[in-house]
Amino acid sequence: MSKIACSSLATRSVQIGVGHDEQTGGISFPIYPSATYRHPGVGQSTGYDYTRSGNPTRQLLEDALADLEGGARGLAFSSGMAALTTLFLHFSSGDHLVVSEDLYGGTYRVLEQIFAKFGLQTSYVDTTSLAAVEAAVTAQTKALLIETPGNPLLGIADIAGLADLCQANNLLFVVDNTFLTPALQRPLELGADVVVHSATKYLGGHSDLCAGALVTKDEELGEQLYFLQNSTGAILPPQDCWLLIRSLKTLPLRMERHSASALQIAQWLQRQPQVEKVYYPGLGEHPGHQLVSQQATGFGGMLSFRVSDPQLAEQILESLQLISFAESLGGVETLITLPAVQTHGDIPAEERERLGICNSLLRLSVGLEEPADLIDDLQQALSQFSGRVVYG
Ligand SMILES: Cc1ncc(COP(=O)(O)O)c(C=O)c1O
Repeated sequence: MSKIACSSLATRSVQIGVGHDEQTGGISFPIYPSATYRHPGVGQSTGYDYTRSGNPTRQLLEDALADLEGGARGLAFSSGMAALTTLFLHFSSGDHLVVSEDLYGGTYRVLEQIFAKFGLQTSYVDTTSLAAVEAAVTAQTKALLIETPGNPLLGIADIAGLADLCQANNLLFVVDNTFLTPALQRPLELGADVVVHSATKYLGGHSDLCAGALVTKDEELGEQLYFLQNSTGAILPPQDCWLLIRSLKTLPLRMERHSASALQIAQWLQRQPQVEKVYYPGLGEHPGHQLVSQQATGFGGMLSFRVSDPQLAEQILESLQLISFAESLGGVETLITLPAVQTHGDIPAEERERLGICNSLLRLSVGLEEPADLIDDLQQALSQFSGRVVYG
């Protein structure tokens, strides 16, 4: 069924799969659990032969991911790490990557403890500095991988500036867009070649799914990554593809609310005497505020804050009632973590210290609850420690 072209991301998200089932008119696209497909004849195919190679539900999801990110090809994986691992398999022994130093600890772990064994070298740099990235590029460098906002310190990298730098040095430019999602930031439109997602986070949005994605700007690279996906097999199963399709329908709406609530909470935290520093790109004094305002349409739901001492950080984690002390992010429910011992535990202690990922730093994934309720919870947790109620 042909449809009118819609420029609105909200409309395109809601309409994923609608009108595809012409036989029944079903509004929700079906789950195809079939592992294999009957051939009409010898040398003939319906377009689907074996589910690792292709599955109609996954196809719909992959096309939707490509559409939302403004890319040519989407690929859905069983986790964000599966997507990143498949991407790293694109490189060869002796190749060198430049990667954000403020990044998810699992990405660091797979590069240092697995890919380094196969001769893939990585340098970790402050990718909020074009000069630092340029200085790290060697004759062997094949790609730049950034997270922006960074994790957990929310530093902002200049996507368009880095895209120019990559083009000048013939580097593949990869952006992990997990934190802002295409609802707020579309790196491919700013010059990136590949977007990576832990779809476990905002794309899934309900803390009930583990998934990952790659989206390429051009078809040729998409085909090369598809070859790796099909050859190594870390595909997203059809049931999970369906769940992710359902989640994507509310993505723009959720991101808007995550952003508004995070700003409110960041401003409140700034006024608390036990809080030394708040890291949120939506705050005017954040060093990346101007840049993120230009390259994204919102600031997202992630913020970090440093309290006066590690004991207080622990106390907060133990006292919160509504907010869950749990890893992950991007769900409808608010989660808090201690990055130094959880998400970034695999980064060496001295490196964490240098970056400012200390034991007093807490990371909050602001959910969709009423912000006033979240503030009440934070307030009671902070006041338990000081023995007094702190009014914002
Ligand atoms: C920015 C980012 N990229 C990638 C990953 C890995 O994704 P997954 O946990 O879905 O494997 C994570 C996980 O936390 C992440 O935060």
